[in-house]
Amino acid sequence: MARQTPPPPPEPDAAGAANSQALRERIDAAIAMAGGCLDFADYMALALYAPGLGYYSAGQERFGPGGDFTTAPLMSDLFSRTLAREVARILEGCHGDTVLEYGAGTGQMAADGLAELARLDALPRQYLILEVSADLRARQAATLEARVPALKDRVAWLDRLPDKPLRGVVLANEVLDALPVRRFRRQPRGVHQLGVGVDDRGDLCWRERPADAELSAAVAAIESDRGERLPDGYTSEWCAGLTPWVQALADSLESGAALLIDYGYPRGEFYHPQRGTGTLLCHYRHRAHDDPFFWPGLQDITASVDFTLAARAGQQAGLDVLGFATQGNFLAGAGLPALLEAAAAGDPHRAAELAQEAKPLLFPDEMGERFKVLGLGRHLPLTLPGFSFADHRERLSAQRI
Ligand SMILES: C[S@@+](CC[C@H](N)C(=O)[O-])C[C@H]1O[C@@H](n2cnc3c(N)ncnc32)[C@H](O)[C@@H]1O
Repeated sequence: MARQTPPPPPEPDAAGAANSQALRERIDAAIAMAGGCLDFADYMALALYAPGLGYYSAGQERFGPGGDFTTAPLMSDLFSRTLAREVARILEGCHGDTVLEYGAGTGQMAADGLAELARLDALPRQYLILEVSADLRARQAATLEARVPALKDRVAWLDRLPDKPLRGVVLANEVLDALPVRRFRRQPRGVHQLGVGVDDRGDLCWRERPADAELSAAVAAIESDRGERLPDGYTSEWCAGLTPWVQALADSLESGAALLIDYGYPRGEFYHPQRGTGTLLCHYRHRAHDDPFFWPGLQDITASVDFTLAARAGQQAGLDVLGFATQGNFLAGAGLPALLEAAAAGDPHRAAELAQEAKPLLFPDEMGERFKVLGLGRHLPLTLPGFSFADHRERLSAQRI
C-alpha cells in the first residue's frame, strides 16, 4: 500500500495567530538581547511560560480532544484511583496529612484521587496544588467544584513550595517533561550549544556556538558516566532545572514520598548512541513532531526525563530511592487489577469495558513502557506495592547499556 502523507495540521484561528505573533516579538527581543543566539532553555521558557502569551499561560484549550494532547488521568479514572491507593499507603506509613500535586492540568487527577481517598477513608487534611498557569488554576477549581464539591475545601493553590516541610505525598504527572532544557551537539573539537536565532527570511532557526562552562561540564559528566565520548554530531538535551527542582522538593518533604511520573529513560538509555537527535517532542492538535519553532506559544514543547539525574538529585538531597518502574508495572503492583475486579462486580460485559479502558495505561506499546514512575522518599518505613511488581532501580545506574 502506498504511504500516505498525513494531512497538514489545521491553521490557528485569528486570535491564536495574533497571540503567537505577539510572543514572537518577545522572543525576537530576547534573541537580540542575547546577541543573536538565545539559549534553547530560555526560548522554551518563553514559548511555554511567557506571562499571558506562553503555551501554559495564555488560556487556550490544551488538553483532550479539543486541545493538543491527552494525559493518563484524562484517559481513565483508573489511573488516578490506582495512584490514590498508593497515596493512602504512604499517608498511613508516614502519618501524613498532606498531598501536594505539581502542575495539576485540568484538575482531573486531583478530583478522581480525592474521591478515591474518600472511598478508602484516607482523605488528607489538605490537598495542595502548585500550578504555574493562572487559567489552569481556574480550570482545576471548576473541575473540583463539579466533580467533588464536598471535598473542594481541602484544596488550596500555592505559588511556591510551602515554607514548612510537609508530611505526606508529592505527585507530579507529566510535569518534568515541561521543564526547559538546554540543547547541545558533540563536535570533534568540543561541545556546542544549540540556541535560537532568526534567519535571512525572518524565521526562527537553530544557531550553534561553543558551549559555556555549565553545559560543557554537564556533557563531560554524561560522557564520564558512559565511559566514552558521545559520537561526533550527537545532539541531545540536558535539563539544568531538574536538580534544583528535586532539591526544592526534597527540602519540602519532612517525611513521606514523591512519585514522579513521566516519559523518559535512565541515563544510559537516554544518551544512547541510537538516540542521536535528542528527545524533543512537540504537540499541536494531537500531532507529535520535533519542530519547536512551529507557531510559538500554540504548541507544547517537551523533552524526555533523565531519571538517573532526578534520582541522583534526590539522593544528594537526602532522599531514598524507593523504586523505579514502568507505568504499566507500577499500576499493576499498586492495585489496578484488584480495582478492575471490584469495579466490574462480576459483570463480564463491564469487566471487558474496563479492561479496554486500562489497556492504554498498561500496555508496553502504549503508555505502559515509555512512561516511568520514580519514587523518592524520606523516613518512610514501607515497601510500596507499586514497586513490588517489578522494580528496575538498578537501571538507574548510569552505565552504558
Ligand atoms: C502536560 S501538563 C500535565 C497536567 C496534569 N498533571 C495531567 O497529567 O493531566 C503539565 C502541567 O504542569 C504545569 N507546570 C509546568 N511547569 C511547572 C512547574 N515548574 N511547576 C508547577 N507546574 C508546572 C503546567 O501548567 C501543566 O498544568
